[in-house]
Amino acid sequence: MHRSIHRKHMTSIQDIKKQFPIFQNNPSLTYLDSSATSLKPQTVIDAVNQYYIEYSANIHRGIYTIAEKATQEYERARKSIATFINASSPEEVIFTRGTTESLNLVASSLGSEIIGKDDEIVTTIMEHHSNFVPWQEIATKAQGSLVIIPIRDDFTLAVESTGKSQISDFISSKTKLLAITYVSNTLGTINSVKDIITAAKKINPDIITIVDAAQAAPHMPIDVQDVGCDFLAFSGHKMCGPTGIGVLWGKRALLERMRPYQFGGEMIDHVTVEKTTYASPPHKFEAGTPAIAQAIGLGAAVDFLNAVGVEKIHQHEVTLAAHTITSLKKTFGDRITIYSPPAPYRSGIVTFTFGKYHAHDVAHILDEEGVAVRAGHHCTMPLHTHLGIPASVRASFYLYNIEEDVKKLVAGLKKVEAVLK
Ligand code: ALA
Repeated sequence: MHRSIHRKHMTSIQDIKKQFPIFQNNPSLTYLDSSATSLKPQTVIDAVNQYYIEYSANIHRGIYTIAEKATQEYERARKSIATFINASSPEEVIFTRGTTESLNLVASSLGSEIIGKDDEIVTTIMEHHSNFVPWQEIATKAQGSLVIIPIRDDFTLAVESTGKSQISDFISSKTKLLAITYVSNTLGTINSVKDIITAAKKINPDIITIVDAAQAAPHMPIDVQDVGCDFLAFSGHKMCGPTGIGVLWGKRALLERMRPYQFGGEMIDHVTVEKTTYASPPHKFEAGTPAIAQAIGLGAAVDFLNAVGVEKIHQHEVTLAAHTITSLKKTFGDRITIYSPPAPYRSGIVTFTFGKYHAHDVAHILDEEGVAVRAGHHCTMPLHTHLGIPASVRASFYLYNIEEDVKKLVAGLKKVEAVLK
């Protein structure tokens, strides 16, 4: 029964793969680096092209047909994204260049206003630098401090319900901000962000909570109202969309209260020589001509993901990751160290170190076999320091990956041993 369901599911994934033209141009490519950036389906490429070919006018300005069409499509993309994450209104969705800019926007517009001397910002050891360095900067400048939630030996956060630590060990009346990743880009750990935020707000209801969803939004259903956070950030290019576009979702009341991030055209209400008043969110945070084609492309990506089904994508990746872990352990035993949490914390990311071989050498030989993985510290240096390793190899799965890709990874690693022995 299970086998036949699985086979049927894989057939539909093969059909999905056909919608990514990169595989026609690179037929032997095994792409296991979707956490760095995803590949793009034809519908997204077409949506971007269509804008440039048919209606490439600026938005929110022109009183002519193609400009109105451009504005409509840009705002339609905002609506689709709002629905995708269950925002209470499209006005809570701000287009940025990506997760990094989204987090920096919150850090500079709000963080720097509310963090003072001796205040604390709570974050975790598994954060990507983009959800770590901005807070470290603010804490240092304000003479406040960063409080770091560690991980346990099973690569889950110390404050998960099964652990010894409690969120109350980290949150206090001094805490002003909690910045936490939904899914670790290195360990693949899915954090119980809803439970952690609920517990943190019980201790101190005034805390502002920020969720880095760069590795979550492309891979699993997200409901910002259910999570209960104040801000959530993600990138378009990791979810089948173009590069150069991302999203900051924020609660309307907070967005109203925040200072603009950049100043200039399109973000104003009224300007005189003496004084400027600002537009309402989201426009207050979108100064200048935005990435119009990219936003429209992201709208098409969201349509594409919805048509496939985000929960189905999640299940597919988790299955492939479990299969990868089993195959790697069976083939290489103690020669491979895998940094993955147990289910249900596990996503579609499998990170490992392989014997005495440097991660870059491993990735180089895998590339010769047509297998693309990421090697290095994956922008998580504090985590790598904690793990006591300089670098690791990361295989990350998405909706177009198949079991054959796992076989190619294992075969590629056998080649690594043969070459480097
Ligand atoms: N943040 C991206 C990654 O984890 C680039 O690879």
